[in-house]
Amino acid sequence: MDERDFSALVVYEDDARNFQRRICRKSVNELPAGDVLIQVKYSSLNYKDALSASGNRGVTKRYPHTPGVDAAGRIVESVDPAWQVGEEVICTGYDLGMNTSGGFGQYIRVPGSWIVRKPAGLTLLESMQIGTAGFTAAQCLLHLEHNSITPANGPILVTGATGGVGTVALLLLHMLGYEVTAVTGKDSEHEFLYAMGATTILTRQELLACREKQLLPIRWAGAIDTVGGDLLAAAIKSTGFDGVVTSCGNASSGDLPLTVYPFILRGVHLVGVYSANCPMTKRVLVWEKLAREWKLNELSRICRLIQLNQLDEEIQAMLAGRSKGRCVVDMEGVA
Ligand SMILES: NC(=O)c1ccc[n+]([C@@H]2O[C@H](COP(=O)([O-])OP(=O)(O)OC[C@H]3O[C@@H](n4cnc5c(N)ncnc54)[C@H](OP(=O)(O)O)[C@@H]3O)[C@@H](O)[C@H]2O)c1
Repeated sequence: MDERDFSALVVYEDDARNFQRRICRKSVNELPAGDVLIQVKYSSLNYKDALSASGNRGVTKRYPHTPGVDAAGRIVESVDPAWQVGEEVICTGYDLGMNTSGGFGQYIRVPGSWIVRKPAGLTLLESMQIGTAGFTAAQCLLHLEHNSITPANGPILVTGATGGVGTVALLLLHMLGYEVTAVTGKDSEHEFLYAMGATTILTRQELLACREKQLLPIRWAGAIDTVGGDLLAAAIKSTGFDGVVTSCGNASSGDLPLTVYPFILRGVHLVGVYSANCPMTKRVLVWEKLAREWKLNELSRICRLIQLNQLDEEIQAMLAGRSKGRCVVDMEGVA
């Protein structure tokens, strides 16, 4: 019997089917079976966590539950010979934080096949400043590169630009020399977006002008879309010949109102991006890139470090579309 107990954010469903979030003490014995027990040093807030924390059954079926699709920490027990006690590791995606107790607890227990050795070029804090959102942005960039989209091809559009995926995408694109057009609904954040590397800023309404047309004048070589719906459709309609549009999110809508004309007349590539079940080989490659040639030295400009007891207000802001940048949770500072 393991007597260790720890703090965790727990989401409960009450008799009236309302969801409440509380910081509770849990025992390591309550964690699911798994190969590797990890003491979590940092976690980070992603959109999926906000959904899980508010009772979205598409993400989490059973409550009480501890969300947190991201965790970085140190192995304290392992029955998997591939993993040794003391190793610093990153665990993102798979079922973590969905129906497996997640990174908003000070311990997680997971299969060894879910974890990645922290690359030498990143600290645990940096890995969570990037987190699933940044890992997803990096995958989008990988698709641009694999399809030969370079800065010479023209600007890249980023939607949901002040969000977690959007801000990391901005930093990466700017560092690699791309011109970036950022789309935002936040009039108050234009200065912030310029400082993060945007060269042009559009409001959502500006991107949606003439949305009824099947094709729009060519404006960019590619796009990183995090919101879906009409904005994604407009991005595709205004992408140039052989351009690449990545779709990773649905912050606005899961719909895609579009004809085939951007594809059959301009050869636009629409590439879907998924992170939770990203294959391990690609996962390691992306983390290594983020630790070396894509190493971001300005992550602290888009991230804030919070304590577990500040998560609730961050979750509410994210659900209301008010969040900005990335939010890292210091899991060690909790009593
Ligand atoms: N496929 C994957 O594996 C994967 C991985 C990570 C995230 N995602 C998805 O990607 C999306 C973005 O994630 P995130 O971490 O960046 O979330 P986030 O930090 O909450 O940012 C989302 C941003 O989208 C914009 N937005 C919000 N509501 C909108 C609306 N109704 N219409 C248009 N724009 C809206 C806002 O930016 P502005 O105010 O600047 O417009 C907001 O800051 C989410 O849908 C998430 O589930 C998918």
